[in-house]
Amino acid sequence: MVDTIEYDLIICGSGLAGLRASIAAAKRGPGLRIGVVSKVQVMRSHSVSAEGGTAAVLFEDEGDTVESHIYDTVKGSDFLADQDVAERLCREMPHEVYQLEHWGMPWSRRKDGRVDQRAFGGYSFPRASYASDKVGFFEMQTLYDTCQQYENIEYLNEWFVSSIVHDERRFLGVTAVEISTGTFHVIKAKACIIATGGAGRIYSFSTYAHSSTPDGLDMAFRAGMALKDMEFVQFHPTGIMPSGILITEGARGEGGHLLNSEGQRFMSEYAPNKMELAPRDIVSRSIMTEIKEGRGLKSMTGADCVKLDLRHVGDETIRQKLGAIREISIKFSGIDPSKEPMDVRPVCHYMMGGIHTDINGKTELEGVWSAGEAACNSTHGSNRLGANSTSECIVWGRITGELAADYIKAGVPQVEWPHHMVFAEEKRIYDGIFRGSGDANPYEVRQTLTDIMNDHAYVYRSEEGLAEGLRELRELRTSTWSHVDDKADEYNTNFVNVMELDSMFRIAEVVLVGALGRKESRGAHAREDYPMRNDDQFLHHTLAYSGPDVPVMTTSPVTITNYQPVERKY
Ligand code: FUM
Repeated sequence: MVDTIEYDLIICGSGLAGLRASIAAAKRGPGLRIGVVSKVQVMRSHSVSAEGGTAAVLFEDEGDTVESHIYDTVKGSDFLADQDVAERLCREMPHEVYQLEHWGMPWSRRKDGRVDQRAFGGYSFPRASYASDKVGFFEMQTLYDTCQQYENIEYLNEWFVSSIVHDERRFLGVTAVEISTGTFHVIKAKACIIATGGAGRIYSFSTYAHSSTPDGLDMAFRAGMALKDMEFVQFHPTGIMPSGILITEGARGEGGHLLNSEGQRFMSEYAPNKMELAPRDIVSRSIMTEIKEGRGLKSMTGADCVKLDLRHVGDETIRQKLGAIREISIKFSGIDPSKEPMDVRPVCHYMMGGIHTDINGKTELEGVWSAGEAACNSTHGSNRLGANSTSECIVWGRITGELAADYIKAGVPQVEWPHHMVFAEEKRIYDGIFRGSGDANPYEVRQTLTDIMNDHAYVYRSEEGLAEGLRELRELRTSTWSHVDDKADEYNTNFVNVMELDSMFRIAEVVLVGALGRKESRGAHAREDYPMRNDDQFLHHTLAYSGPDVPVMTTSPVTITNYQPVERKY
């Protein structure tokens, strides 16, 4: 007998989107039993590492406008954002900043007491609300504190959700392994919100926590939902060498300069108006062009990099507003940024793609919503602006939480429980993975997989490189990596890691296939062999469905309301 528990609403993921959703659902449906299930402890969600800001228009009295936030977001997206969705983000965000404040968020403030905002890339107004450079940590703490007010929210910490149970049409529950005991559970529920975050650990040079693997995306994909726009992977310009830990864009917002080997602020060549505060895709390409043309430097490991110089910003401002990156730089690179420039290069930081949803975060499977980075509701198109991610988590956390609660309250019909799906999942993870056998070391395979992505689907891409990456990935998949040598029941992280690897193969393949198919350059997807944007053929979203052998690719239209695509200039 499989251990079975029941909730009304199950929220997969306990980051910003998941916690915001749980509060919204608990408030909307006080009688609902809500389970928040996560493979980590709540405050270990990767959301805690968000650093620089949360975008919202707060200073209309000083000239900022919601229209300008919308346009900046659409232009930043290289016109692939659904404009109605971008508009919703920008209109709803100001309220959410103040809502967080009322729940206790310690925003950094101006002398007049108002919430301060700093400059971020691609915006025409300083629009990133911040709390020093620990925005995610404080937002998470604020939301988690607020969650404690609701007795109907329960936490299933360190449970690995492995699959979605459904009857082809409607959501019925999930399966999960309780990591502390090894018990396999069925969690029956009437609705689900997938808020499992991004999957940037499919790259070896990455700002993401090691837990940011694509298990959430993959379970949706295996359940028949589409993944959208997965070829668009964001490379943040300033990953510190050699670890790749994020050095916030706030560092450039506070005045930091990027320098090449000749000591020049090279961004003047690429984005003369915005300089270091151009959108991330442009700054990352500029860095890689400098390196390719011989104006990069060698970091301590011998890898190519450029310099991020904060010396002129001054020790006091660095300590006050950039304390976390100061500490990161000193501890992980031995560099005090007030005394020496840091070695940086573009690093995998965000996935614009994710589970295909509509403007309300609703997926193609009835009863399932998705929010935050796991979702692709098309707010960001092909390139997200910094500080719009925490905003998206908060806005669609609330929206999906409320809608899921309404859906449950309206009554969800009972259907026959599909036992065969649970048996099939047990077979997949226990026979196929836990009791699998083979010689290949799954940890080495994971490293190779992530190196393939770094080598072949990085800032600049080409047909040849992507095809070679896909060939190497598929060959790697045939090696005997699917086995778990640790046979313990309790805290078997070996089992968890191989399940993660299983999902990494499928999702990395979708990224590569999508990137091969998009024969143009748009936003973060820069093809050396197709250097121009091609609106005639590619002004559409990419959808990937799980197929018997390879992903089945199709497209969906982009919603354009007020802004016709034009060339992006900064
Ligand atoms: O640079 C940063 O602080 C990152 C922010 C973001 O990705 O939104």
